[in-house]
Amino acid sequence: MTANRIRQHNKKKIAESFGSASKSYDVSARLQRFSGKHLMPWLPNRHDLTVLDLGSGTGFFTNLLATSYRQVIGLDLSKEMLRFAKESRHKDIVWVEADAHKIPLQDESIDLIYSNLVIQWFEPLDVAIKEMLRVLKPGGLIIFTTLVDGTLYELKSSWRQVDDDQHVIDFKTEAQLDEHFNTNNSSVLEHKCQDIVLEYQNVIHLARELKGLGANHLPKKQNRGLSGKDKWFKMTDHYQDFCEPNGIYPATYRLYSGLVVKLNT
Ligand SMILES: C[S@@+](CC[C@H](N)C(=O)[O-])C[C@H]1O[C@@H](n2cnc3c(N)ncnc32)[C@H](O)[C@@H]1O
Repeated sequence: MTANRIRQHNKKKIAESFGSASKSYDVSARLQRFSGKHLMPWLPNRHDLTVLDLGSGTGFFTNLLATSYRQVIGLDLSKEMLRFAKESRHKDIVWVEADAHKIPLQDESIDLIYSNLVIQWFEPLDVAIKEMLRVLKPGGLIIFTTLVDGTLYELKSSWRQVDDDQHVIDFKTEAQLDEHFNTNNSSVLEHKCQDIVLEYQNVIHLARELKGLGANHLPKKQNRGLSGKDKWFKMTDHYQDFCEPNGIYPATYRLYSGLVVKLNT
């Protein structure tokens, strides 16, 4: 398969994996809720804006944006996520099924792009950033969160002791993200990085939450299908090294929040 066909295949899998999680998603989305709300202080305080929620998922934040802004568009790769959003969210929102690497909107038609925990799926990221900057008006903003390197390090390190397979997606570093978003016609105005540690009763609870979020598609995973039971138990043994004294299993998510402006060039 050519690199392009592999990417298309991976995108289809990402959409399917999020789609099958659309109904359970809102109950598993502790991290999404936290990170999306975390972006609120950066939102411009004026009503007359056209806003794009890029990777809108079930539309939880698209709905909040629709209470503040004149026109709101929710764009997602997954048909199922969009179906769920259409049925349950504000009637004035426009829903678009599309890939962020090829946004079917006119040049300079959007004032603000909001994107919560989606950018970690973009490959290649440069193409998606180019598209975001194309549809943004000069002076327009991108307000986003994503996960960076260090995320799920407990899980990664526990699996590393068992095999060489890829069990957790590769996340970009903080410096790489800054580099990507500082371009000829865009600049990172502000960024923050913080570790969010969520607690789980056991590793199955963590795996269920990742699955419930649809975040279980791994493009480079060699060993398709379920890992063998033995491997799983070995991994959970290693994970116990990270357990807190009260027996709780922690999982770290390194959250990058960025405020980017499209320059008037
Ligand atoms: C973790 S969910 C976040 C959803 C939402 N932003 C929220 O905060 O609840 C990621 C979403 O990004 C979508 N997605 C992943 N890759 C995408 C792409 N290339 N283009 C558009 N949407 C994409 C998935 O279908 C999924 O709905």
